[in-house]
Amino acid sequence: MRAKVISFINMKGGVAKTTTTVGTASAMAGYFGKRVLVIDMDPQTNATVMLIGDNKWAELNEKDLTLYTAFQEKLFSRSKVPFSLEETLQRDVGNLDRVKGLDLLPSSLKLLRIQDQLYEIGKKTDYGVQPYEVLALAVNPVVPYYDYVFIDCPPNMGILTKNALYISDYYIIPAIPDILSTYGFPEVIDQIIDFSNEWKEKELWKAQKKEEIILLGIVATKVKNSNPLHKRKLEELEDNESIQPFHTVFPENARFAEAAEYRESMTFRQKWGYQKQADLFLQFSREIMERIERNER
Ligand SMILES: Nc1ncnc2c1ncn2[C@@H]1O[C@H](COP(=O)(O)OP(=O)(O)OP(=O)(O)O)[C@@H](O)[C@H]1O
Ligand SMILES: [Mg+2]
Repeated sequence: MRAKVISFINMKGGVAKTTTTVGTASAMAGYFGKRVLVIDMDPQTNATVMLIGDNKWAELNEKDLTLYTAFQEKLFSRSKVPFSLEETLQRDVGNLDRVKGLDLLPSSLKLLRIQDQLYEIGKKTDYGVQPYEVLALAVNPVVPYYDYVFIDCPPNMGILTKNALYISDYYIIPAIPDILSTYGFPEVIDQIIDFSNEWKEKELWKAQKKEEIILLGIVATKVKNSNPLHKRKLEELEDNESIQPFHTVFPENARFAEAAEYRESMTFRQKWGYQKQADLFLQFSREIMERIERNER
């Protein structure tokens, strides 16, 4: 069976997209024994650094063993080295004790240099590769080997996010329940519906074996329980069934930020805190699995 591909998206920055992607992927692999691939689509490379640490990140960047090469070779036909999925895919990452099966496709800051030119890919190649197809062409060979593919998107709806959506079955919007962080997501949902319709019209969904990209839900993050605005906005989210709010709510807690640091090997619980954080990721993983199962029944 094909992996379930889920993009974590919000055009607002700093709303815990990366933390949610990496924590949930770790829980799925480390606790539920799933085979999980994290694709870091963000040139800020935060998920990459969280999962493999600075040293390995620098080494891969130097050798161009990152997603940058997949895009670069479609943009400039004289690529230094061709993209090699085999060499770029990092296996058993996260440095968690006894956790196997969490893999990573690393990103690179170099993507920042070319991201504004990526729209030209369609004009550059003779064989008509579209700018939103590059990720699909790069990773499709390995997708069937996973149970889940989680894509950490940059904080915008640009071409890199469009690449992520093109291969996604589902998307999740992490959002802080404040004015600015919840402001943009109706626009995110509308744009995804537009992309979906565009691809449907071009009959591209047949190749991807799906009919649309489904909103799995909105998850509240960095919630300050004592803050009246957060409380009110959270209630608003919870009452809005059209956005399918997840029951799991991630409170603001410094342990989440500490867990971003790549350290010596430890267990999932040591890394994500013996207090509630680890359990929240488990609970959130369960909710994701249940929703997908319900959807596909
Ligand atoms: N529940 C939380 N409590 C406190 N801090 C958190 C929590 N979740 C994430 N953070 C911290 O908030 C910051 C932003 O989180 P993160 O990088 O996951 O957001 P993002 O949406 O991926 O940001 P960007 O848009 O820049 O990619 C990080 O420093 C992270 O460690
Ligand atoms: Mg991020």
